[in-house]
Amino acid sequence: MTYDVSPLFSPLDIGGKTLRNRIVMPPMVVNRDLGGAAAREWYGRRAAGGVGLVIIEATSVADVGGRWSADDLRPLVDAIHDGGALAAIQLFPGVRGDPIVPADLSLDDIDVLINNYHIAAQICADAGFDGVQPHGAHGYLLNQFFSPLKNTRTDPYGGSAENRMRLALRIVRTMRGIADAAGMLILYRHTPVGPGYGIDDSVELAQALIDAGVDILDISPASDAAPGDRAAPFVPLGVPVIAVNLLDEPARALEVLNEQRAQLIAVGRGLIADPDWAIKVREDRLDDLVTCIRCDSCHADLRRGVPVGCVQWPD
Ligand SMILES: Cc1cc2nc3c(=O)[nH]c(=O)nc-3n(C[C@H](O)[C@H](O)[C@H](O)COP(=O)(O)O)c2cc1C
Ligand code: SF4
Repeated sequence: MTYDVSPLFSPLDIGGKTLRNRIVMPPMVVNRDLGGAAAREWYGRRAAGGVGLVIIEATSVADVGGRWSADDLRPLVDAIHDGGALAAIQLFPGVRGDPIVPADLSLDDIDVLINNYHIAAQICADAGFDGVQPHGAHGYLLNQFFSPLKNTRTDPYGGSAENRMRLALRIVRTMRGIADAAGMLILYRHTPVGPGYGIDDSVELAQALIDAGVDILDISPASDAAPGDRAAPFVPLGVPVIAVNLLDEPARALEVLNEQRAQLIAVGRGLIADPDWAIKVREDRLDDLVTCIRCDSCHADLRRGVPVGCVQWPD
C-alpha cells in the first residue's frame, strides 16, 4: 500500500536547530562503550539511515565526566552528525541495575545529584551534543519522585505535587544556563500515567518543566498497550512532543502526525531491526523494511549485558 509519507519528512525548527524530519531514534541501551568504535558504528549507522534526531541511551550522569570526557564523546556526536541527524543523550540519575528509590537520598545526596547533572550538561555541550534529556520515565528514580505512591518523603521533595516536582525542575534549571550558552536543547522523557498519578497531573508537571526550560517533551507510556496515543494531551502546551510505542508501523506513525497528536514520532525497536527504516519509508520501499517481530530478544540482550542486536538483522 502506498502512503503520503511527506508529513514524516517535513523539517522541524526548534531553538535554532533544524531536525531534517519528524523521526526520532529514542534512547535504547545497546551495551556498547559510548567512547568506542562499536557505539559510533551503531549510532552513526542509524543516523545515516535517515532519522532526524538520535537520542543516545540512558547514560549515568556520574559516567559523563567520570567514565567519559567530552573528548571521548565527541567522535560519537560527530558520527551522528556525519549521518545527518541531530544528537542528544539521555541522562540517568543513578547506576543501571542499582535500584535507588526517593527515600534513599539525603538532602546532600540530592544536591550532589543535581550538581552531577550540571557537570554532565557542560560535558555534553563541550562534546557538541544538540540536546540533553533527563530520564524522568519508566518508573526510574525521577519518575518515582513524581509518584505520590513511590515518593514517601516528608521533606521539601515529597508530599505536595509542587514538592514531588522539585527535583526534576531543579535538574532542568541547572542545565538551562549551560544549554543556553551552548545552543543545546533540553528534552524530558516522562511516563504520562503512573502509580498514583494520571494525565492531568502529568500535564501540570509538563507545564512546570516547560516553564523551567524544557524544549521538547518525550512522552513514553512504557507499555505496548499504548501505541503513541498518550502524547496528545501535551500538544496544547506549545512545545514539540515526541510520541512513541509501536510507531514503526508507518501508517500508525502518519496517523499520529496527521491527527496532530504529536509533532515527532520515535521508532525504537523498528530501528534496531532496520537501521534504514527512515530511508525506506521515504523512498516508498515498505516491502523492503525489516520489521520488528516483538520477540523481546533485544531486551534479553540488554538484561544480559551483552551488545544488543536483532534476530531480524544479524550483525
Ligand atoms: C533494547 C532496548 C533498550 C531501551 N533502553 C531505553 C533507555 O535507555 N531509556 C529509555 O527511556 N527507554 C529505553 N527503551 C525504550 C525505548 O526507548 C522505547 O520507548 C520503546 O522501545 C518503545 O518504542 P518502540 O515500540 O518503537 O520500540 C529501550 C528499549 C529497548 C528495546
Ligand atoms: S530483537 Fe526482536 S523485539 Fe528486538 S528489535 Fe529485533 S525483532 Fe524486535
